[in-house]
Amino acid sequence: MLDEQRPDALRELAHRFKAAMTQQGLTPGQPEQQELTQGRLEKAAGLSHGTVSRALTGKEVPTERTIGHLAAALKMDPLPLFRLREQAMRARAWPFMAPHSYREVVARPELSGAVLDILCRDTAQTVAMTTALHGAGGFGKTVLAAEICREPRMRERFPGGVLWADLEGRTGAMLTVVINSLCAELGRPQHTLENPERAGQLLAAALAERPPSLLVIDDAWTATQLRPFLAGAPSCSRLVTTRHLFALPSATASVERVSIGAMRRQESRELLTQGLPDVPDEALVPLLRRIADWPLLLTLVNGAIVSRVNGGDEPVAALVFVDEQLRASGPDRFDLPHAESRTEAVTTTMELSLDFLAAHRPDAVSRYLELAVFGEGPVPLFLVEALWARTGGIAPVETRFLCGLLADMSLLTEYRVGNPAQIRLHTMVQAYLNKRLPPDHREAVHTAYRHLSQERARNAHDELLLDDESDGQTDELEQW
Ligand SMILES: Nc1ncnc2c1ncn2[C@@H]1O[C@H](COP(=O)(O)OP(=O)(O)OP(=O)(O)O)[C@@H](O)[C@H]1O
Ligand SMILES: [Mg+2]
Repeated sequence: MLDEQRPDALRELAHRFKAAMTQQGLTPGQPEQQELTQGRLEKAAGLSHGTVSRALTGKEVPTERTIGHLAAALKMDPLPLFRLREQAMRARAWPFMAPHSYREVVARPELSGAVLDILCRDTAQTVAMTTALHGAGGFGKTVLAAEICREPRMRERFPGGVLWADLEGRTGAMLTVVINSLCAELGRPQHTLENPERAGQLLAAALAERPPSLLVIDDAWTATQLRPFLAGAPSCSRLVTTRHLFALPSATASVERVSIGAMRRQESRELLTQGLPDVPDEALVPLLRRIADWPLLLTLVNGAIVSRVNGGDEPVAALVFVDEQLRASGPDRFDLPHAESRTEAVTTTMELSLDFLAAHRPDAVSRYLELAVFGEGPVPLFLVEALWARTGGIAPVETRFLCGLLADMSLLTEYRVGNPAQIRLHTMVQAYLNKRLPPDHREAVHTAYRHLSQERARNAHDELLLDDESDGQTDELEQW
């Protein structure tokens, strides 16, 4: 663990080399003699004077070769040193943590322009993207925040980097894990088990040392959850997304708000027809009216249509079919302000997609419903692979294929095969799966998941006995 006096990965690396030199009896302590002993090290490592000096002063990130040679000469385990190097490299690069959207993003220039105007003012600002409808999700706040982060001018405006904290229901120790991962991204790793407030202070200290940065705090539910991210670091701007106005600090003047509501009709049209060939307007109008410009529903309906078209249906026939199904089981136009109406709209559309999936890949429906056992937030792909291997005897490569299929049908919000490999469901979709998973199936999945967690915990424990520096998978496991 790194302490606060030498929190920087690069300095820690230099410190470890010097400590190893002392241990090996190479440093008697006198400055003149230190030159001499450094000389001995240079000889033993086969490295030049300049290279070793730079590694020992911690002013430059040493190459892997330098680290390998120094480690061999000083009889050190090179693995933890390589990890420190990676952290130092990351800290030097421009940190950028905004998630990628699986789908093509429809531009919403009015809204993104309003947020950008505030963020690009000279002084640091805190902006909250909220929804006018209290508690309503799926209006595109997260997607929009990630797009704003990708604006080319962000790099110049925030030379310290763009950081992203996904709060989605996390509290206590889980929140601390999120904060610690931000610190690691800034080259200030800490594996503290302290509370979120304390971890937040360390994060603020790390941010205060940097040039202006942007910290996105996505999906805050409560003021307590949000507090550790807002304290200190006055040069850091914050962009908060929340469904709940009461999560924001009560001193309203300190936070500017931008309300994210329904899409404009042209934006809805673009989203609804993604991945479809040209379809005549007449075929689209009734459906667009029914969906009421709600991005989440537009995406789900688009997924239902696209999968039918990929299955061989004519685009217009697929549109009409989906429209008729929605009309048969719902009102003329979904009543967005009402939570029951929103839930009903999601349910109807999900049923349509799952009926289609059942006709083409019956086992896929069961696997998909099983994702209900994971909580809110992203799910590491290795966990999905492990779970489906147990419940369906599915090989990892098949899991990836199935995830791709589900994402193409808009049944997953996110699917990434690398860096980090993970999937994500929208909370409303997750809620639907929770309702749909039959109790006996849920019991079986929970048992499989429990065994899986125990097995992985045992493995992680064995790994920790071998090496007390946790790797990425162990960190992820801790969150689960
Ligand atoms: N601009 C956009 N372009 C394309 N798809 C979008 C856009 N905005 C939203 N979506 C779709 O709608 C879904 C819901 O959007 P998002 O997750 O951003 O909503 P949210 O407001 O953050 O919801 P919550 O309050 O539940 O976090 C996304 O998964 C995406 O599929
Ligand atoms: Mg969101």
